[in-house]
Amino acid sequence: MNVLVTGGTGYIGSHTCVELIKAGHKPIALDNLCNSSVESLNRVRTITGEEVPFIKGDVCDEKLLHEIFARHDIDGVIHFAGLKAVGESVEKPLDYYQNNLGSTMSLCRVMSAHNVKKFIFSSSATVYSGDNEMPLRETSKTGNCTNPYGWTKYMCEQILRDIVKADPEWSVVLLRYFNPVGAHQSGLIGEHPNGIPNNLMPYISQTAIGKRDHLNVYGNDYDTHDGTGVRDYIHVVDLARGHVAAVNYMQDHKGESVFNLGTGHGYSVLDMVHAFEEANGVKVPYEIAPRRPGDLGTCYADPTKSREVLGWEAEFNQVDMCRDTWNWQSKNPNGYDE
Ligand code: NAD
Ligand code: WQD
Repeated sequence: MNVLVTGGTGYIGSHTCVELIKAGHKPIALDNLCNSSVESLNRVRTITGEEVPFIKGDVCDEKLLHEIFARHDIDGVIHFAGLKAVGESVEKPLDYYQNNLGSTMSLCRVMSAHNVKKFIFSSSATVYSGDNEMPLRETSKTGNCTNPYGWTKYMCEQILRDIVKADPEWSVVLLRYFNPVGAHQSGLIGEHPNGIPNNLMPYISQTAIGKRDHLNVYGNDYDTHDGTGVRDYIHVVDLARGHVAAVNYMQDHKGESVFNLGTGHGYSVLDMVHAFEEANGVKVPYEIAPRRPGDLGTCYADPTKSREVLGWEAEFNQVDMCRDTWNWQSKNPNGYDE
């Protein structure tokens, strides 16, 4: 399938391009590079031996989208492009609503005009309401999001559901990611957040390499086995393969479907720190800090539906996640910058 991959130079997008190529699909990347570098696609070429056609541009630009759909024979779209920093979304809500909702609506409008109706959306575990029992199933309650970023994912899901209701020819797959971590085993592509990382794994690896003095562990009084927050960390290559499974699924399934992409295992902050130290023979100094506002104690997936319906399940374990994160970090201390 020819797949337009928006956000294709980003962290998850670049790994997905690799797995799409390996599965015989043809990705075309569209990205405005607001949070990534086109160097990631040079690295994808090194890994796969194939060039990913790249278009620099904004997904909110409908004129450009029309040109792309007119010029390329696109069968379906994976929409990764979006802003994703939770804290920033609280400070700049309009930027988040404009970009994340605007891009999704423009894309669907143009797709419809060109009769392309296969769409995979990057959703998030953040759409689940905080008062659910664990593990989270696709049928668990959604809403009550704690920040504008989360609301953009929740609202995009609703917009996409309404599009399918209005036109049953659409195939929409909503993929709810848990906590993506790790990097391609080659160490050529990975995650490089701008500035101070918000997420745990990049903070751990930047601490291990000496860029950060210590990790702040946000709270040790949660109702978990060691008091620190528990999450469902998933290797980014597993996540990327989940998209390949969804691409295959949507070729012969219409309507809207939603899948969790997680492992079903929860690890605490200190579990991750200790696993990282052990897997890589490095030290990660940490201090216990107050809870971070908006955080849940525990969040992990029930991945049964993805296994049964998509035939996908995570294959990499916690050691793989820690080893591959460090392999990428130590080979590329400044990410894609020289
Ligand atoms: P990323 O920032 O590395 O990738 C997103 C890409 O989209 C970037 O390359 C950025 O330049 C691009 N982009 C943003 N707005 C754009 C626009 N209007 N037009 C064109 N390009 C644009 O982030 P990621 O971690 O790879 O996340 C990919 C998607 O998955 C996002 O939608 C994110 O919200 C979602 N997601 C991420 C996580 C996570 O923890 N990483 C978890 C759940 C969901
Ligand atoms: C994990 C655990 C923290 C940093 C976020 C978004 C979510 C999704 C994934 C996009 C928690 C603790 C963290 C640190 C710490 N993104 N922590 N010290 O909060 O589960 O999810 O990223 O969709 O929407 O909210 O991930 O990596 O920030 O935190 O102790 O410096 O690590 O308290 O328990 P989170 P995270």
